Amino acid sequence: MTASLLAACITLQAKEVNVSDDLAPEAATGFEEKSLVKASKHMVVAAHPLAVKAGDEVLRKGGSAADAAIAVQLVLNLVEPQSSGIGGGAFTLYFDAQKNTLTTLDGRETAPSEATPTLFQDDNGKPLKFYDAVVGGRSVGTPGTVKLLEDLHQRYGKRPWSELFQPAIKLAEEGFTVSPRLASLIAKDQKRLSRYPNTRQYFFDEKGQPLQAGAVLKNPEFAKTLRLIASRGSKAFYEGQLADRIVKTVREAKGNPGLLSKKDLRNYQIKERTPVCSGYRQYSVCGMGPPSSGATTVGQILGILQSYDLASLGPVNPESWRLFAGASRLAFADRARYLADSDFVPVPVQGLLDNQYLADRAQLLQSSDQALKTVSAGTPVWQHASIQADDQSIELPSTSHISIVDAQGNALSMTTTIENGFGSRLMVGGFLLNNEMTDFSFASHNNGTPIANRVEPGKRPRSSMAPTIVMNKEGQPYMVIGSPGGSRIISYVAKTLVAHIDWGMDIQEAIALPHKLNPFGVYELEQDTEAERLKPELEKLGYPVKVRELNSGLHGIVITEEGLEGGADPRREGVAIGI
Ligand code: GLY
Repeated sequence: MTASLLAACITLQAKEVNVSDDLAPEAATGFEEKSLVKASKHMVVAAHPLAVKAGDEVLRKGGSAADAAIAVQLVLNLVEPQSSGIGGGAFTLYFDAQKNTLTTLDGRETAPSEATPTLFQDDNGKPLKFYDAVVGGRSVGTPGTVKLLEDLHQRYGKRPWSELFQPAIKLAEEGFTVSPRLASLIAKDQKRLSRYPNTRQYFFDEKGQPLQAGAVLKNPEFAKTLRLIASRGSKAFYEGQLADRIVKTVREAKGNPGLLSKKDLRNYQIKERTPVCSGYRQYSVCGMGPPSSGATTVGQILGILQSYDLASLGPVNPESWRLFAGASRLAFADRARYLADSDFVPVPVQGLLDNQYLADRAQLLQSSDQALKTVSAGTPVWQHASIQADDQSIELPSTSHISIVDAQGNALSMTTTIENGFGSRLMVGGFLLNNEMTDFSFASHNNGTPIANRVEPGKRPRSSMAPTIVMNKEGQPYMVIGSPGGSRIISYVAKTLVAHIDWGMDIQEAIALPHKLNPFGVYELEQDTEAERLKPELEKLGYPVKVRELNSGLHGIVITEEGLEGGADPRREGVAIGI
């Protein structure tokens, strides 16, 4: 590779993530071998054993997948507070077995009505440094999770709403054990976590030391918040005293106040979106459309790979990974140009997933002796064309994923987040508030051309979250999968689908398969795994290569004729439980 090509690749990468995500608080804390879990009736897979246990208990009482997800989410908020919770947002896919329908619900945070495209720029129009924007009130969007849980319950719930809050209330009052992962993340983020008194008080002990693994942590304030929502529903969150406290916390955040108002909270709405499905081999891979880029970009990667016989090539052949990288880079170039909240900008989802368009893009990967030299957005068929510039977003690893199948065959795939690890670092009512607004592009224009994912009032920031349900030829759910990981979510999910569908790995093996990702030009190989062995071959093809932690949190279930098979990511603390 020439020096100028190498520089061009690095510039492209730097443009997307201009802060070292080695500093991000969501780094790995180890790798724990896990085995495939089999069940015949129901299954829950999520990021913490206590949360999974709560979901399993709901299912044992005859609850639906939606009921179980509510219990899981509330416990996750408590025991994995850095990743998701009622101060954030989520996307959910729900397959209703009785009605035979797949529904996608958008509980994404929205930009406050006072926000403008220059929210993350200084007085000279220069984008702020990432953490200067994140920590404080400026990054907080109107949370969606409580309304989403309530919506799920109204549509699909079988157990009483308040019952689903009991596991989290009990743990918050009696205390839970701080896990090694949480302790290590608190230690890494000490400086930012100590900026605001409520947050400092919660995550540090009486001597001012960060909480250690094994410490028992109680959260009576969160228990109080949960009791309120359990008895009065989402109104108790979006209106009244709790809403007032949220608004005050955001608007009075020292050094970096935000714009969230009571009106923003009162007006928040869940949006039912059309599922985005694309064919891959004999399956239909369905997920969340805009404002998430998840399903569209996963669908594009798979759609480009469809032209190649990955099954014959196999998982060890560098050619498979050249194709995976090429498909990812082409899909991510389109994502940077076109993907944003489709309520605000036209997004050519159909054109981007059109078979002929993807077959044409796949032609660009025909030369098998080198990495793509240049990658730019394509020109899909578009009903409503507009001129847009490539965006400049910073997306660090974060978030959590829940997969559930219940005894009736209902399936739920939910990816949930407060964005960066520990969100905005603002805490109120015992929970952390999100920093989801920093998922917008900090720059609003590029040389005068508007960026689709710029901040606008009431808009939802583009997400990478890719909760997925794969449907079989009979139109029934076959696989439930998703992951945290910022923009890497898309590659993690696509890799796992290829490993299972093309290479025949069971769901646990597919999740554990070492990551090799290349959405932006630099090949990232998972450190301390066999992925590192590919380094010389990939460098020979012309890729700059970086060996690093790749901390996915993939949680998946495969539904076979013999029963359910579940896999939890060995890179995190999650488990699969089923009966
Ligand atoms: N904040 C993570 C995502 O939405 O992609």
